[in-house]
Amino acid sequence: MAKILIVYDSKTGNTEKMAFAVAEGARQVKGVDVVVKKVDQTSLDDLLAADGIIMGSPTYYGQMSAKLKALIDESVKIHGKLEGKVGAAFTSSGGTATGAETTLLSILHTMLVHGMIVQGRADDKHYGAAAVETPDEEELEYCRELGKRTATLVKKLKT
Ligand SMILES: Cc1cc2nc3c(=O)[nH]c(=O)nc-3n(C[C@H](O)[C@H](O)[C@H](O)COP(=O)(O)O)c2cc1C
Repeated sequence: MAKILIVYDSKTGNTEKMAFAVAEGARQVKGVDVVVKKVDQTSLDDLLAADGIIMGSPTYYGQMSAKLKALIDESVKIHGKLEGKVGAAFTSSGGTATGAETTLLSILHTMLVHGMIVQGRADDKHYGAAAVETPDEEELEYCRELGKRTATLVKKLKT
């Protein structure tokens, strides 16, 4: 069974809503086991056990939150062991063009350093799912689509 881990940080609940929608989308793919965890409840073993890791963070000064970065910095202990896993990202920010893309890229960047596989999207939302504050229905749909697309790729690579 392919395993997808969704790790998120969220102070006021917006990114958390996105995480649940990403999970909903990933669960649409048969033969995939989906786990959702808050960043401070996520261990390095959780990262190692997953075939796909989708990370979500609020946009903080145009980058991921310190809590998510702390997990990534801790992952130096398992550097090299995430190679070949699939990665994806989502974020909630306070506005549009106020740092969402740079936040997504800050997450994807670390995944590339880990040797992970990142799939872009040709048609809109190229770098991942983004919402302004609380995600509306359209933004939640992008989250579901991100989860589904990532799970589909994970399954393809696993077989
Ligand atoms: C420390 C801090 C820094 C922030 N920096 C930005 C920013 O650079 N750009 C932006 O659009 N929103 C910024 N925001 C707003 C949050 O990204 C936004 O409220 C988000 O929806 C919070 O997500 P959450 O409910 O998951 O915590 C910041 C908020 C905080 C607390």
